[in-house]
Amino acid sequence: MSRNDDRVIIFDTTLRDGEQSPGASMTRDEKLRIAKQLEKLRVDVIEAGFAIASPGDFESVKAIADSIKDSTVCSLSRALDADIDRAGEALRGANSGRIHTFIATSPIHMQYKLQMEPDQVVENAVRAVKRARNLIDDVEFSLEDASRSELDFMCRIIEQVIDAGATTINIPDTVGYAVPQEYGNTIAQLIERIPNADKAIFSVHCHNDLGLAVANSLAAVSAGARQVECTINGLGERAGNASLEEIVMALRTREDILGLSTGIDTTQIVPASRLVSSVTGFPVQPNKAIVGANAFAHESGIHQDGVLKHRETYEIMTAEDVGWNTNRMVLGKLSGRNAFRTRMEELGTSFASDAELNTAFSRFKELADKKSEIFDDDLVALVSDARASAGHEKFKLSSLNVTSQTGETPVASLVVSVDGDEHSVESSGSGPVDAAFKALEQLANSGANLQLYSVNAITSGTDSQGEVTVRLEKAGRIVNGLGADTDIIIASAKAYIHALNMLDANIQKAHPQV
Ligand code: KIV
Ligand code: ZN
Repeated sequence: MSRNDDRVIIFDTTLRDGEQSPGASMTRDEKLRIAKQLEKLRVDVIEAGFAIASPGDFESVKAIADSIKDSTVCSLSRALDADIDRAGEALRGANSGRIHTFIATSPIHMQYKLQMEPDQVVENAVRAVKRARNLIDDVEFSLEDASRSELDFMCRIIEQVIDAGATTINIPDTVGYAVPQEYGNTIAQLIERIPNADKAIFSVHCHNDLGLAVANSLAAVSAGARQVECTINGLGERAGNASLEEIVMALRTREDILGLSTGIDTTQIVPASRLVSSVTGFPVQPNKAIVGANAFAHESGIHQDGVLKHRETYEIMTAEDVGWNTNRMVLGKLSGRNAFRTRMEELGTSFASDAELNTAFSRFKELADKKSEIFDDDLVALVSDARASAGHEKFKLSSLNVTSQTGETPVASLVVSVDGDEHSVESSGSGPVDAAFKALEQLANSGANLQLYSVNAITSGTDSQGEVTVRLEKAGRIVNGLGADTDIIIASAKAYIHALNMLDANIQKAHPQV
């Protein structure tokens, strides 16, 4: 595909840059579920992770490379031999694989972070690309902090890495500093000035520190870039990355002006957004474009009247276009194991053994006893909740009892198993959740700071499951605990316990930009 084509390549980095959001780390199985949804969404490239970061990251990239068939699977690597070899190894089973290698090119990064002269940076970049090309045909090279790099230097390094075999050149706005006109001009000038620019696709990767990530990405594609790197719900380092749903729907809705298209199946956008939110515990703000709960809700009488008379008076796209109504009621109390398994597989979850299926099915039955209509979102939350209490489990909730009455101080009494031994704890608090958390902290004595407590109703109705996120911080490490239940006090206690278990697991991994 050449850059003159009207088709924009959608490169999703939810599983790599998205995972760099504090507390958004995901397990291998969670990443695999998201990757399968991204494949259904028909993204062109899935950046599955940073293979050398940890054994867990390597396994995640490998599992995704081995099972995804329709999207290209990519691993990030610094411009270091060991990183590139590890990425190549993880991608060995891929139907279509890509190594994405990068080095910083701005004066400030070269001087203070890399402590390298520009010539050394060029030399390392060329060596990295050649090494990657010996392993795989599809190689992307990124100039980290490109938006603060000098144009002449970028032209020089890009020409050489294209000669060395890079097939995609990415110009990141790493610190979210660019503004649309300037950034678009940079892309246009690079394409015009670099003699072999036609041998590669130009890509952009924008961070949202000034809230301009989507605007900058659109300016760049108007100037000739043909790949956009983005994430579901705009997840990502600091203020996040350009949001996939906004880019895709802007290109589609304003094709008249932009003249470009993507291969995305837009009806899979909302399911992807729900899944990423449920797995990471990052709620989607109600007024978020495309995927926020209010994105298609018309509150004012004048708007409602207009939409009823003629939808296009106030709507530029339909809720169905982006998958809002795909959350159909599928299962109920009388549904059997096979129906349950089939629907779960359609939602991207398969069971490794009959025992695993049976456990999930009995959780489903428990939920169906409490809630008559089970929606897809309930099933997604059920799996996230089950996975949250699988794996490393030092603490496990056995029972919980709360008393809460007008005029009285709430009290929570819990029985928690710690490494298999049951302990009873009790505490009062300003509310039942506060009392439960205080009791848990009394037992665990983790010393962690509670940074976030959020409750989200998964579906409408008072019998909805509450999905709770608890973010704990300890010595600079941040974890997000998740819990779901029709009783929000139980969901909250489960989320707190999940966070404690993650802190206890103490998983270490390298950050690519450090
Ligand atoms: O923001 C950035 O520069 C990155 C690169 C590694 C592509 O994430
Ligand atoms: Zn980034």
